[in-house]
Amino acid sequence: VEIFRKDYLAPANFVTEVSMDFDIEEGKTVVKSDLVVRKNADSKNDKGDLLLDGDSSSVTLLSARLDGGEPLVEGVDYELGDQSMVIFEKALPKSDTFTLSTEVSIVPEDNTQLSGFYKSGPMYCSQCEAEGFRRITYYPDRPDNMATFKSVKITADKAKYPVLLSNGNLVKPTEDVGGGKHSATWSDPFPKPSYLFAIVVGDLGSISDSFTTSSGRKVHLEIFSEKENVDKLDYAMESLKNSMKWDEDKFGLEYDLDIYNVVAVNDFNMGAMENKGLNVFNTAYVLADQKTASDGDYERVEGVIGHEYFHNWTGNRVTCRDWFQLTLKEGLTVFRDQEFSGDLGSKDVTRIENVRGLRGRQFAEDSGPMSHPIRPESYIAMDNFYTATVYSKGAEVIRMYQTLLTPKGFRKGMDLYFERHDGSAVTCDDFRAAMADANDVNLDQFEKWYLQNGTPTLSYSSSFDASTSTFTITLSQSSPTNPSNEPFHIPVSFGIIDSSSGEELLPTEVLELKEESATFTFKLSNVAGKPVPSILRGFSAPVKLINENVDEATSQLQTLAAYDTDGFNRWEAGQKIFSTAIFAELAEKCDSTILDAVFATFQQSLSSDKLGDDSIRAYNLMLPTEGSLAEDLETIEPVKLREARGTIKKLVAKEFKPQFQSLYEKLTDEMKGVPFAVDSMSIGKRRLRNVCLDFITTTVNRSDEDEVLANAKVAHSHYHAANTMTDKLAAMSILSSVYGCAEAEALRDEVLAHFFEEAAGDALVVNKWFSVQASSTKPDVLDDVKRLMEHPEFNIKNPNRCRALVSVFTANSAAFHAEDGSGYDFITNVINTLDPLNPQVASRMCGSLIQHKRYDAGRGKMMVEKLKLIKEFDGLSPDSFEVVSRGLK
Ligand code: ARG
Ligand code: ZN
Repeated sequence: VEIFRKDYLAPANFVTEVSMDFDIEEGKTVVKSDLVVRKNADSKNDKGDLLLDGDSSSVTLLSARLDGGEPLVEGVDYELGDQSMVIFEKALPKSDTFTLSTEVSIVPEDNTQLSGFYKSGPMYCSQCEAEGFRRITYYPDRPDNMATFKSVKITADKAKYPVLLSNGNLVKPTEDVGGGKHSATWSDPFPKPSYLFAIVVGDLGSISDSFTTSSGRKVHLEIFSEKENVDKLDYAMESLKNSMKWDEDKFGLEYDLDIYNVVAVNDFNMGAMENKGLNVFNTAYVLADQKTASDGDYERVEGVIGHEYFHNWTGNRVTCRDWFQLTLKEGLTVFRDQEFSGDLGSKDVTRIENVRGLRGRQFAEDSGPMSHPIRPESYIAMDNFYTATVYSKGAEVIRMYQTLLTPKGFRKGMDLYFERHDGSAVTCDDFRAAMADANDVNLDQFEKWYLQNGTPTLSYSSSFDASTSTFTITLSQSSPTNPSNEPFHIPVSFGIIDSSSGEELLPTEVLELKEESATFTFKLSNVAGKPVPSILRGFSAPVKLINENVDEATSQLQTLAAYDTDGFNRWEAGQKIFSTAIFAELAEKCDSTILDAVFATFQQSLSSDKLGDDSIRAYNLMLPTEGSLAEDLETIEPVKLREARGTIKKLVAKEFKPQFQSLYEKLTDEMKGVPFAVDSMSIGKRRLRNVCLDFITTTVNRSDEDEVLANAKVAHSHYHAANTMTDKLAAMSILSSVYGCAEAEALRDEVLAHFFEEAAGDALVVNKWFSVQASSTKPDVLDDVKRLMEHPEFNIKNPNRCRALVSVFTANSAAFHAEDGSGYDFITNVINTLDPLNPQVASRMCGSLIQHKRYDAGRGKMMVEKLKLIKEFDGLSPDSFEVVSRGLK
């Protein structure tokens, strides 16, 4: 069933207080609940029935009673549906509050969906967002029902499951209850919606620490994992303490309980979950040590630990009224975790990475059939809307408030938001109102960002009148998916650079574009050359930017790449020069002007370290990804695109081989003997050196076996000299694409085997081994992937493992979109197997087929055929059905 935002209705009854009792036995867990229900006097519902959600494929009702009376009778007092239990108004007590007691049984051991209560290795754990609580018991499973979970009692086998956890505070410590079992009772003083409920039961190891809040509350911090992984928890703990401090410093927000627990789980559908006082994490975002984690992994651990911690205020203390408001907590919390990472590391690097992510994933989503506003209007399976749009574009929308209001004004808005809404379930409009009221500004037009899907286009043209020293810039907006064509309110950060002196003629100003088009003029002084506009500094709005001064575009970009004071735009200028060249190559029109610009940009980054730290330099030396390039193409031809990008890369590699070589050696020397660290400087050196490695080992002539072998040898020795996962991965990904020379292939196979052996079964490392092979550019990569599906270590039920192989392959676009349709056949078969096991993960994989309109007719037709086939699968999940149906519309 499709649910619509406009149909929101407050419930006729609220559950205000909950007591639960979990009795866990192998193959059967009995859950007893006492729900204190209060009738909602303000309800506009004409019926007073008590509506409970419950997934009958997971929950078996054993009994239900009201106020301790006789068991209710099905058909007389209540009715059970597939997804619900309705207790008739006539059966309810006349009083305003009453108690419903239910007893149900569930089988976590059989729960392969990983939603609700399930088993993962030596532990049981839960995932309730968005709608998993209804797979544990009957309950009004909607976020506007906030209740106090006064008591959660857990009973389980003592030897097998020594650790018993739930939200809040431990009010009754673990005690023996006979029969080899023990039990513990938890209580959470903060009212919460059911999606924030959590329970974890297992044989776990942990590390603990403490944090004293600014007002002096000493908080016990503990991070749990399977025992073999406890030595990989330190970085997460560091990150947690940093997060707690940062939220106090930046937003004046303190933690509110005496305990903060985090559990790492190997089987998890998403990244992590902010359950009150008991976060549950995908192991991939908690575990990290020198041997097993890359710099990217460390970065993600810090970011996600921060993200879940920040949810305690933006998500838990103030939550969403309904799921359409998801970006209220997710966009805001992503924005907060991005700011946190930027403050702890490097602002420019973080911004570049965030925008790369946005363009690579969100722009694509927004130009296809799953396109939706950050506040969607309807859904069938809410889990399908935990998207790049709600998260990343949502974060950009929050960032725009800050750009418009300044960080100080933004903070005022945040303060007012908490003052007004602490302890309640609210809407995106409430957030916008707090921002507007706190700053005494009108943000009505800003609502457009919540209403409209699609990526708007911002065009600009500029001119300079030397006689009056007046610079004029005209901004115009349009939106392909915006029929009403009402304009957005767009903050455009803007500055001007002198092309010959390199001086900044105008420091950053925020221009507010509210009309379809507007012109701004500036009086400049000390103009030596041409004034060049630096527009959308820091990527101040999630739009596509078009320079209408086509003839000047390249020279303007060169000025910005060399002199812009805005680190983001300096990088951006280089990227645009590179993509111009790649597109020209694709159109077989690449000329020397654009190639010279490419070379000049590389020359500059290679010869000067003045343009930013090593990370920035590294990003400046990377060509745009195939994914972000594809976003600017009308029709994507993945094989040709890869070739065109490859051609430019080869030209650069050939031109600058000696420089890359000597920079590589210089960095190798600098890093010698320096102990391992994950600070910005060390990360920057590794990043830059691995970019050099990539160019040094770029094979210019594929049919020259000597060259293939020589390059493979360089990567091979980089691998064996490496003492970090980052360096090993860099070398191994290069090697994984080696083919066409037996001796080189032997080096490749030796490294892959070595890596696998060294992993010694470590799940996260083995995932990398699968991923690297799935992203190979070898022509027969699909054969490898199919062979790997049969590998004893492959397990389709484990989402991380499944994504490491299958999703990584679907992102390997030239291979996945092979002209013969073999990639499409493959994914259709995987979906067929996976959908009955785990609909959430399967429906994401359906996403790989829905962009058919973006591809050439031949590919498009094959993709549509597959979608039709999947739609007919027996018992297709609502999750996959929704994505596939949208794809076929
Ligand atoms: N709230 C979590 C986070 O962003 C995401 C949980 C989503 N899970 C799901 N199955 N939809 O931190
Ligand atoms: Zn989140």
